[in-house]
Amino acid sequence: MSDTIMDRGTGWQVLTEHVQDHGLRRHMLAVEAAMRWYAQELGGDVEHWGLAGLLHDFDWEIHPTTEQHPKDGAPILRQRGCPEDVIQAILAHNTEGSGVERQTIMDYALCACDEITGLIIAATLVRPAKDIRLIKVKSVKRNWKDKLFTAAVDRDEVRQAIEDFSGVAYDGKLELWQHIGNVLTAMQGIAAQLDLDGRLAKPQESPAP
Ligand SMILES: [Fe+2]
Ligand SMILES: [Fe+2]
Repeated sequence: MSDTIMDRGTGWQVLTEHVQDHGLRRHMLAVEAAMRWYAQELGGDVEHWGLAGLLHDFDWEIHPTTEQHPKDGAPILRQRGCPEDVIQAILAHNTEGSGVERQTIMDYALCACDEITGLIIAATLVRPAKDIRLIKVKSVKRNWKDKLFTAAVDRDEVRQAIEDFSGVAYDGKLELWQHIGNVLTAMQGIAAQLDLDGRLAKPQESPAP
């Protein structure tokens, strides 16, 4: 058991120790940004909400089944000084595997922010500029409607998670597209960390002399 409470630096260290896949690291940075955004908006603890986003899938590479993940990762987080409310939120993002239900607003926020970041990242990467700062909600909407686009993102599940979050945090008044706009804004704020600041765009061919 760690004597010190985990801060963002230790959280990042735990992440890089356990996650080698670039895409998975990017996913967690994206969810972290969204969680920090909502903590500010809703008066939550920005550090705790951020850690929940940053670490929610930290054990996926060592526990790659929904039975193990994140249940078997929780003791590792506890040992590294991760706050209990953060561990609770992480466990509750996979109730099926962990048996832990969502309780706090932070728990609901994590589920609402998780999958949609994947669709936003994919929507950025299919555009030539590969710059998330140029992405508009309406472009994400177009991709959302295309059932074959990132088909792994279950639209009904995402819609339900957002509805649940809206119910506990916004009296049911947070609309799907407003939420997606909020997550997009949060991710645009860390475009460089996500490598979505245009650096992945193919260099323009120089015109023939
Ligand atoms: Fe997960
Ligand atoms: Fe995730």
